[in-house]
Amino acid sequence: MRRIQVFCGCLHTKNDLTGMGRNTNGKTVRFRDNVTGTARHRQPGNDDMRRRVPLAKSLISDVLAKADIRHLADYNTKLEYLVQERTRQLTRANARLQEKIEDHLRDKEALSESEKKYACLMDSTLTGFYVIQDKRIVYCNRRFAEIFGYLQNDILHIEVQQLFPADDGHRNDGTDKPWMEEERIVEGVARDGRRIWLHRSLSRIDCLREMMTLGNVIDVTAQKKAEIALKCLQCDKKLLSEKLLTAQESERKHIAAELHDSIGQSISAIKFSVENSLHECGASLPDSVNLALKNAVDKLRETIEEVRTISMDLRPPMLDDLGLLATISWFCREFKVRFPKLDMEVHTSVQEDEIPDSLKLVMFRILQETLNNIGKHAMAGKVSIELARNKDLLTLEINDDGRGFEAQDLPTGQGFGLGNMRERAKLSGGKLAIESEPGTGTLVRSDWPVGR
Ligand SMILES: Nc1ncnc2c1ncn2[C@@H]1O[C@H](COP(=O)(O)OP(=O)(O)OP(=O)(O)O)[C@@H](O)[C@H]1O
Ligand SMILES: [Mg+2]
Repeated sequence: MRRIQVFCGCLHTKNDLTGMGRNTNGKTVRFRDNVTGTARHRQPGNDDMRRRVPLAKSLISDVLAKADIRHLADYNTKLEYLVQERTRQLTRANARLQEKIEDHLRDKEALSESEKKYACLMDSTLTGFYVIQDKRIVYCNRRFAEIFGYLQNDILHIEVQQLFPADDGHRNDGTDKPWMEEERIVEGVARDGRRIWLHRSLSRIDCLREMMTLGNVIDVTAQKKAEIALKCLQCDKKLLSEKLLTAQESERKHIAAELHDSIGQSISAIKFSVENSLHECGASLPDSVNLALKNAVDKLRETIEEVRTISMDLRPPMLDDLGLLATISWFCREFKVRFPKLDMEVHTSVQEDEIPDSLKLVMFRILQETLNNIGKHAMAGKVSIELARNKDLLTLEINDDGRGFEAQDLPTGQGFGLGNMRERAKLSGGKLAIESEPGTGTLVRSDWPVGR
């Protein structure tokens, strides 16, 4: 006996009970059962066949039905397995998704936290930030709005030109190339029309492929006002100094004239009358009176000389009459008389007409004060004076080899001489420098720019 397998209604021999067939719907099915048969090696006859066909048919349909059930069971098992597998996959995917959602929520929270911090930082800084697109403010922090006297929302979409009317810094706002402008002080107009001063820097940046102009400003109105006030004060001080020196000069001139014309003349008149009296009745007077009158005449002569010197010191008339070079020579001669042991050298390599009239008095006063200081403080053995012109610079240099002093560290209020010299030089458009250290002598150098 051999087991047979049925396929499409045909019997085939095989060693096991399983088989393949086709059901009534034409689908291929598997089956296994007790279809058994005897393999015959002879061809069956027609009667034999007629008997066997219905039997085979019923066997086949039986087998097919059973095969369907089995197959459905298999299929069901497989399906269940697939469903379970799919459920596991979906659970895993779901867990992953849940994780992602949680990550996302965490990121969102961190982002919102960071945004809050950023906003807090942006709003608490003293720098105003703003962003411009199409010439309008599209973003700004609270400080920027405050500086211009607006609420943050009210300033948005305002034209930048309205805030900075006199400023050309935003002219390149439309370009699509990054640029950065030098920091500078610009003028702005606040909501109430107030003028404000801002220290501003601008840059055009590519922000996520969108070109924007980013600006930041610091309100420097208070500093600017203080600067303007300081400039005014400096102007006032300059005017006052000018007035003071002018008043000083006219007072000196006046006193010099009074000394010369009034006191000097009066003393001269007294001297003349005493000399006259001596001449007319000197012989009749007792010797002691005669001697006293002669001494008085000598004293009067000395006094006249002193008055003349003081008057000349106050304002030498020769400065106006003969010029600076002659006045310098005279003054140095007089100085040498007062300090005979002092070795003096004077070099002047300019012509009188090369020295502007406006500088003559200033130069003389500087020379006068410097020589007086040398006489009073320096204990010098040698003084050299040089007046020269080097291209467009007129220079007066006075050098002594005396004891020197801490020129950088002079206590204020010690004297007025050096301060006045500096002021005079400055007011006349020049500069004065003093180089001195204890033990090294002193150099006073002043110069003025003069035209060719
Ligand atoms: N050539 C010099 N050598 C040494 N010390 C000097 C010399 N020139 C100035 N000084 C010092 O500088 C100080 C300030 O000089 P400054 O001319 O301003 O005042 P002063 O001569 O003391 O007083 P004033 O000029 O008002 O009569 C002097 O007191 C002195 O100590
Ligand atoms: Mg002095």
